[in-house]
Amino acid sequence: MERQQVYEGKAKVLYSTEDPGVLVSYFKDDATAFNAQKKGQIADKGKLNCTIATHLFRLLESQGISTHWIETISDREMQVRRVDIIPLEVVVRNVAAGSLCKQTGIALGTPLKPSLVEFYYKNDELGDPLLTRDRIRALQLADEAQIKDLIRLANQINTALRIFFEKCQIILVDFKLEFGLDDQGSIILADEISPDTCRLWDRVETDASARILDKDRFRKDLGQVAEAYQEVLQRILAQISLK
Ligand code: TMP
Ligand code: ASP
Repeated sequence: MERQQVYEGKAKVLYSTEDPGVLVSYFKDDATAFNAQKKGQIADKGKLNCTIATHLFRLLESQGISTHWIETISDREMQVRRVDIIPLEVVVRNVAAGSLCKQTGIALGTPLKPSLVEFYYKNDELGDPLLTRDRIRALQLADEAQIKDLIRLANQINTALRIFFEKCQIILVDFKLEFGLDDQGSIILADEISPDTCRLWDRVETDASARILDKDRFRKDLGQVAEAYQEVLQRILAQISLK
């Protein structure tokens, strides 16, 4: 059967397969920032993110966290479970950076204890605004039980990823998650986890911009973008091979 494109996002394309419950997620080299006002390409980003996301999904699965990942089938493609995406961007913050600093004045690098879990409306036309629990309910994006579940899952994922990245000598500053509902109505982790969707700071390097190992290198024109993603992958692989 010819595979059909079912969705194209900014960084990935989803294709149908002969199994209606399974899609193929293809990782592109395209990079965007500031709601796609800035556009570019990062050499081999699709391959790097597909491999990084594979290892991180496997890590979460091994800790009992359900994800959409089934199998990685090429250097840019993974088979994933088809889910109905909940149009929320769930952001977890361990250290103040990005829009948190801009909107609140909290100094960059301030440790956040306990970590923050925030919800943004996944809506490009509106510029992904920050939501409140009441707004989520008013928009009928999730009910109270689902909101609680999303917060629980986000915290669980944060704990697993933080511990893992710490072993890689990387500080997990913040990250964005997307969840979907499977055919049973269960919430499972979808999308990707990669240097596109996380802020990752080198624990060893202390120079403020040299330590950035994520998409902020692209957002802020810091250069060495693909090299930073490659560094993240190398550290993940080194950590996994120690097991
Ligand atoms: P922010 O500080 O810009 O709100 O970003 C918080 C985290 O979410 C950061 O790790 C980058 C990630 N993120 C995305 O993955 N996609 C987005 O569209 C935005 C705005 C942020
Ligand atoms: N992915 C988002 C966009 O292109 C924003 C970002 O990651 O900075 O619009």
